Amino acid sequence: MTNSRRRFISSISMLAASSAMPLHAFNFGKSEKLKVTLVGTGVRGTSFWGKRLVDQYSDILEFVGLCDINPGRLAYAKEYIGAKCPTFTDFEKMVNKTKPDLVIVTTKDSTHHEYIIKGLEMGCDVLTEKPLTTDESKCQAILEAERKSDKKLIVGFNYRWSPYATKVKELLMNNAIGKLVSVDFHWYLNTYHGASYFRRWHGEMESGGSLWVHKSTHHFDLLNWWIDSEPSEVFAYGDLEFYGKNGPFRGDKCRTCEHKPDCKFHWDITKDERMMNLYANHEEHDGYIRDNCLFRNDIDIYDKMSAQVKYANNTVLNYSLTTYSPYEGWRMGINGTEGRIEAWQDIPYFKNESIDEAEKHAKEMAQTGKDELTYEPVILHKLWNKHETIQVGLEKSGHGGGDKRLHDKIFKSPETQDEYGRTAGVRDGAMSILIGIGARKSIESGKPIKIGDLTDLEPKVSRT
Ligand SMILES: NC(=O)c1ccc[n+]([C@@H]2O[C@H](COP(=O)([O-])OP(=O)(O)OC[C@H]3O[C@@H](n4cnc5c(N)ncnc54)[C@H](O)[C@@H]3O)[C@@H](O)[C@H]2O)c1
Repeated sequence: MTNSRRRFISSISMLAASSAMPLHAFNFGKSEKLKVTLVGTGVRGTSFWGKRLVDQYSDILEFVGLCDINPGRLAYAKEYIGAKCPTFTDFEKMVNKTKPDLVIVTTKDSTHHEYIIKGLEMGCDVLTEKPLTTDESKCQAILEAERKSDKKLIVGFNYRWSPYATKVKELLMNNAIGKLVSVDFHWYLNTYHGASYFRRWHGEMESGGSLWVHKSTHHFDLLNWWIDSEPSEVFAYGDLEFYGKNGPFRGDKCRTCEHKPDCKFHWDITKDERMMNLYANHEEHDGYIRDNCLFRNDIDIYDKMSAQVKYANNTVLNYSLTTYSPYEGWRMGINGTEGRIEAWQDIPYFKNESIDEAEKHAKEMAQTGKDELTYEPVILHKLWNKHETIQVGLEKSGHGGGDKRLHDKIFKSPETQDEYGRTAGVRDGAMSILIGIGARKSIESGKPIKIGDLTDLEPKVSRT
């Protein structure tokens, strides 16, 4: 076995082990390079887990199979990724034929569990995109499949790897504000990024579990990691008041819509070659309309979300997610017995600059590898002292540099101990979605929901 391959294998083990699973040997195949298959050749699968892996890590891994239910998108994906492997529309056939070491799951959220469970049962390690899944029964089924299997499951949480998120973690680990008491965390999606979720499957509860799960899983994972405890109870409010049925008009899709001149959300997909190649040119196979109307009546998720979460260590979280803000950014205050941390990113008024929100969204989602450095402050304010401003350098693209660092950890430097515990396993994946699932149930029932009632996982006072 090559040295690089051994290191890679150990990284999978270490990543999975962060969820308190035992470290043990992996039974990889005999080939020198790690044999990888990917299911779900959409934008994330082809870019971050596809082309970027081929471009950056071809010395230690090779794609042996690509799978998607849309044969047109699949053919384009193979070309875009630059993989020299067969393609399949049947997952089991792919795994039986190619016998991969690792299955990467980047399908739409509600189908992750099918491929995670099948992958583990068929003897592969599995790396899934967030969210782990979309409801508590699928979550329980994944937990059981993972326990039965001698293979590993890791969840690709990238936000933890941004230097900014890491700085907050470092301050908390160094006990900078004493014992944690409460956290205010508010995330604002703008009318580009926020709206984009309502144009496609994310707008349907059945496909993405709502933004409480699809989007907030990122935030709840960060918060669970920062607070270093597990959530025990959630109470939430939410509504759909802006997109979907609330729109002043609705059309078929942006391309052919009669309301183009009046609609502030009009988006011309025909001007984006990649989006045309990925989606519009293959609509006949599955009816996936990428530039769908965000005022269509079948949108049934919330666009306004607010929750209170109690942690097993007694920390209380006040959380909100807004989906049609004029700017995109977030702010947080963490209160402790000895002081307070204030953190935020991309609040334009604090920077005294005017930002093009459309351009910012394009950069954020880019995987170009061309990183523009920026500095964002974190405030540490100890009781009875003057506040301290700590400037943190981070990249503008790829989720604040988190995407790149997550890959590097898995593929380049797996043997290095990570003092911040940024690696995420199945328990982290579960705990982050269970808050959102509980929030949905709380809105439906008007009652607080105990996280321990959703699956057989009992919330722990300390994650570590
Ligand atoms: N970590 C991050 O920052 C991040 C960013 C973007 C997306 N994601 C995640 O990546 C995943 C993919 O998102 P995306 O934006 O690429 O979506 P997408 O719609 O572009 O791609 C999803 C792909 O899955 C395929 N698919 C749907 N159902 C399937 C099934 N039953 N079997 C096989 N293939 C199926 C679709 O044909 C499509 O090609 C999602 O789970 C999303 O949450 C994560």
